[in-house]
Parts: sequence; structure tokens; C-alpha cells
Amino acid sequence: MGALLHALSVVLLLPGLAHAGITRHYMFNIQLQNVTRLCHTKSIVTVNGQFPGPSIIARDGDRVVVEVVNHVENNVSLHWHGVRQLQSGWADGPAYVTQCPIQTGQTYIYNFTIVGQRGTLWWHAHISWLRVTLYGPIVILPKRNVPYPFAKPYKEVPIIFGEWFIANTEAVIKEALQTGGGANISDAYTINGLPGPLYNCSARDTFKLSVKPGKTYLLRLINTAMIEELFFTIANHTLTIVDADAVYVKPFDTDTLVISPGQTYNVLLNTKPHYPNATFLMAASPYVTRLVGFDNSTTAGILEYRQPNSSNVHIKQLPLLKPNLPPINDTTFVFNFTNKLRSLANAQFPSNVPQTVDKHFLFTVGLGTHQCPKNQTCQGPNGSKFAASINNVSFVLPSIALLQAHFFGQSKGIYTTDFPDNPPIPFNYTGTPPNNTLVMNGTKVVVLPFNTKVELVMQDTSFLLGEPHPLHFHGFNFFLVGQGFGNFDPNKDPSNFNLVDPVERNTVGVPVGGWVAVRFLADNPGVWLMHCHLEDHASWGMEMAWVVLDGKLPNQKLPPPPSDLPKC
Ligand code: C2O
Ligand code: CU
Repeated sequence: MGALLHALSVVLLLPGLAHAGITRHYMFNIQLQNVTRLCHTKSIVTVNGQFPGPSIIARDGDRVVVEVVNHVENNVSLHWHGVRQLQSGWADGPAYVTQCPIQTGQTYIYNFTIVGQRGTLWWHAHISWLRVTLYGPIVILPKRNVPYPFAKPYKEVPIIFGEWFIANTEAVIKEALQTGGGANISDAYTINGLPGPLYNCSARDTFKLSVKPGKTYLLRLINTAMIEELFFTIANHTLTIVDADAVYVKPFDTDTLVISPGQTYNVLLNTKPHYPNATFLMAASPYVTRLVGFDNSTTAGILEYRQPNSSNVHIKQLPLLKPNLPPINDTTFVFNFTNKLRSLANAQFPSNVPQTVDKHFLFTVGLGTHQCPKNQTCQGPNGSKFAASINNVSFVLPSIALLQAHFFGQSKGIYTTDFPDNPPIPFNYTGTPPNNTLVMNGTKVVVLPFNTKVELVMQDTSFLLGEPHPLHFHGFNFFLVGQGFGNFDPNKDPSNFNLVDPVERNTVGVPVGGWVAVRFLADNPGVWLMHCHLEDHASWGMEMAWVVLDGKLPNQKLPPPPSDLPKC
């Protein structure tokens, strides 16, 4: 009896546990909006006319309900990037994977609960290239009365990196897929939708962060860029990384960080103790290992210490200090930075990395080619068409959503379950590339029984170009247990795996000319896309899907679809 009472009082005293979260309602009207950047006005697809889009703000444990009404001609679907969607797979959003798109004039209500996550995530369109302007932050606060595991910041500021195209991006990707060549490059990178002063005709479109001395600011960094990973730094300031992909990490200081499309970081910025006699540039520029065909420009914003009564003129007279960014192809920097990320792995935030493995997979990720159709000339490598693949399968989206086909047992003609566990033809992945770079098309999935403990090694290939590939998982976080250069060695490398405090996240950069090993527990029934978050690679087929089966217990099953699920 005494023990029971004690147990009860512990439950009641623990903040947050006793009461469930609240429901947060959002209305998202998909509509066109004219926006001017770099002296060109363009009609872009937005949510509620805002660019970047509105923030979703919720606490861990809250339910989020977003009513999306499509007022544009394009088909639309929205994805809540990094939200685990436990047993709410119908709300995940990738078009033709978990839902048919929302057609013009139609509405779909996304309904999901945030469970055990806090930090920064983001939402974006998940169809064709519409995410170029359809994106916004998801700010997840801890449960009420639960503190951060670091000092409470004075202010919190989203810093969203993006990529701006003067051209219509739907036309850009359509043309690229037709000709088989690389997509036309962007015209600028942006911070909170603004390219900043280093571009022509852009000085007025500069993000400014006004700060006070002696304070701690929490910057919520999100990389929404279409094609490039980015370095980010602020002149004469240090950043403390405290969170990656909405999972706390052991804090560490850095002058510069690298952030892949799909990744988020929460970083602390401690401002100088006294008003300095300078303002400071913050800047982001691409990390690129290929030689041609990329946007080699720098987006910048300004960090200014603004005294309550200081005039604009006064601030403009201060010298503007510029930061140093690493060399554009600094793979060593990227590798070392990633290696510093460690989860807290303490009593309050334990690491749940699977200690044993039920199923091993080795996936190659890389570029490849499709043959040029007869009677056409193609602009890809040697007159072929660019393709990209995982284990030599270039993913083809089906005509109805995979999740529907799975749930109603109608996979015939929609997908097959023969996605290869290992590369079909082993070769020296990071050595001299083979002559035959052809890949096959398919809508293939891996089926996993509920609660399978998976170890997946993703191996970059030197097909055509060694490029970084930020691989993103829907429906899961995974644990990054190892990474290295060259070919993964199944006899030697696992002995160095970190099974104590590996970083837990939803998007991992496979090193150029190397590999990563991740583990995850398949505890979320549904169909989950996994893909490169570089949009050209994804369009070329660097995608696949996991089908996770229901468990035996009622709370281990995927519920039936909501009645308003869009039809194809
Ligand atoms: Cu942000 Cu399918 O991803
Ligand atoms: Cu890629």
C-alpha cells in the first residue's frame, strides 16, 4: 500500500505526465503570392500568402491539427519533417506514398500528436519541387514546467536557410527530367527568405538580428535548400550546438557548422558582454564536391547590437566584420563536425540505440544513368539521362498512395516487396567507377515485422561523381553508430560502433566517398519513405520505402485512414 501510494505521488509530481497536451489548430490556405527578390517579381506558392510560411508552435505531447485548403492549380501535399507520426502515418504527407495529393479546391486535415520530441523541425510541401517556397518552422517546446537541459535563453529566433530561383522551379525540374541533364541552378541562398547584401539588387532584402549584450539567444536553424548542404558562421561569435533534429545533444562549441537540407540545429549564441564597436555578418555558403553546375554564392544576414536609443545612421557607421567560411569542398571539416555530435545519454534523456540487431542491410547510394530514349538527344553523362538510385533501384512513384495499397491489401501492380537487402552486384564502391552506370526503375519496398531492430549501412558510390547525400527517414529517428571513408568493412568497422551515446536524428549526410551505419527500431506501423533530401537526387530516384507491419497489440496497429483522405 505504501509503495503504491509512493508510486502514485511520483506520477502526480512529475510535471507534464499528469495532464495530456492541448490541441493546436492551424488553417493553411495554399495560395499564390507575388514576391520580389533580386529585382525580379515572381508569383510563388505559399501558405496564407506568407514566405517563409507560418510557424507551427506546439509543446511535446500536444496534438496538432492543420486544415489545408488548396487554392492553387498545382496538386499539393504537406509533410511534417521529423515528426515521428506514431500511428498517424496518414498524416505524414509525401504524395503517392502516404496520401494522394490535395487537388485544387480540396481540403485535407492533418492530425497528429507530438510524442517525446522537443526542438526544431519544419514542414514543407512534399510533391514535385513545390517545397522551394512552401516551408516553415515547427517549434516544439518541452512540456509545461519542464526546463531545457541548458540555461533558459533570453530569446528564440528561427534562422531558416533556403534557395531562391528566379525561374519557375516546376519548369526547371520538368525540363531537367525531359532532357536528362542537370537542373538549372539557383540564383541565391536565403536566410529567412532574404538573400542579403552580397547579391545584386538585394541589400534591402537582408535579415537582421538585433541583440542586446550579455544575453543568450537560441537560434533554431533549418536548412530547407533544394540542392546544397551549407556552412554557417557568424563573424567573431561562437555557436554552442545543443540539439540536432529535435533531439538534445551534448553541447559543444564551434565557429562554423554544416547543415544539410532536411537537418535542423538548435544553437546558443552568447552575445558579447558590452556593446561592441562593430556589426557582424552571419553567412551561409555551399559545401560542394563536384566541379561544375552549382550555385557558388553566399547568403548573409547582419547581427547588430542595437542600443535602445541608437539611430540607424550610427549603426551603419560601425565597421562590418565578415566571417571566414571553410573551403567549398572541405569534406574533412564536415566529417569532423559530424563526429562531434553525441546524444545526452543520461538518466533523463537515455539513448535508446538498439544494442542487438535482427536484420542487417547494406544500401549503396549514388548517381547513375538511364538510357536515352530512341529519337531523342539527352544531356546527361555521355548522352544518357541522369538517374540516382539506392541499391541500383531508381524509385518510381506509384499512381495511388503506397500506404493505401498496403492498408487495403492491394499492392498488386502498385509496388513489389523485393527491394534488395544488399547491392545486387558488389564492386569497389569508392574505387574506379565501373563502366556500366545503368540503374533499373522500380517501386520496391522492404517489409519489416513490427519491432525489428535494423542496422543499415549506407555506402556512397563514386558513380559519375562522389556527392554528399543527406538521407532522410520518414517515421523514424535513427542512431548514427558509425561513419568512415572508403568501403564499409563488415569485419572491421562494427567493432568501432558507438552504442553508448550516438546522435539520434532524422537526416544523416553520407560522407562523400564513405559510408554511415545507423540503427533504428521499426516500432511505427505504416509505409515510410527514405530518400536523399537533395531535390535533384530525389527526383532522379534516390528514394525507397519501408513497410512496417502492425504488431499484435491494439496500440501497435495503424488505424484506418481519416474520411477526408484525398483520392487520386
Ligand atoms: Cu523533408 Cu521526405 O522530406
Ligand atoms: Cu543525394
